Amino acid sequence: MMKTENIYLVWAHPRENSLTAQIAKTIRSESAEQGIGVTELDLYRRGFNPVLQQMDEPDWQNPQKRYSPEVHEYFAQMDGHDTAMIVFPVWWYSFPAMLKGYLDRVWNYGLAYGEGSTLPFKKVRMVALVGGSEDKFIQYGWQKNMSDYLKSSMGYLGIEDVSTTFLYNTIGVEADINDSADHYQQLFAQASEMVKALK
Ligand SMILES: Cc1cc2nc3c(=O)[nH]c(=O)nc-3n(C[C@H](O)[C@H](O)[C@H](O)COP(=O)(O)O)c2cc1C
Repeated sequence: MMKTENIYLVWAHPRENSLTAQIAKTIRSESAEQGIGVTELDLYRRGFNPVLQQMDEPDWQNPQKRYSPEVHEYFAQMDGHDTAMIVFPVWWYSFPAMLKGYLDRVWNYGLAYGEGSTLPFKKVRMVALVGGSEDKFIQYGWQKNMSDYLKSSMGYLGIEDVSTTFLYNTIGVEADINDSADHYQQLFAQASEMVKALK
């Protein structure tokens, strides 16, 4: 019997009808089609506070440190999922602060890494929405920089099966796209393919 996949879907966007939100929705519906379970964490609607305070600062001498209850709750929610899928708009060639703060606080020392601690995931799939064009993103080295950064940071956590899907031309400024509805359909199809490829 084929093993059932389970996705922990984390996404960050302030707007509920954003393209990012629609990509997250596509991932949910394609997963349902494929019989893949999804637990969703919509960081903005959940009211996550991304600012790491002293309470959640790692104590490098004590991997057993208790962090704020919220951090332990969010960490425990990931249990039983083999794939993390992280969907975000590229802001300043990086994560939105909301997502960066989630990783800072929840994927913390003594929980996600250090002293035999690990995340439950075997795979991480990043989906990065890029305002600009693929040509420029490659030309200026951003595709390689971001892929390498994401792969090596997940590698540090012991996860080797990591890939980033870039969805380009999300705002049409650098692209000559005649039919944005058609273009968005292609981006949704890319997201669906990524889910299908998990099996
Ligand atoms: C604060 C901010 C920073 C951004 N930085 C970049 C960037 O570095 N490179 C890029 O190609 N697009 C950038 N963009 C454009 C976003 O990637 C684009 O708005 C997003 O992918 C569109 O998806 P959405 O409708 O879900 O927001 C930025 C947008 C914002 C708001």
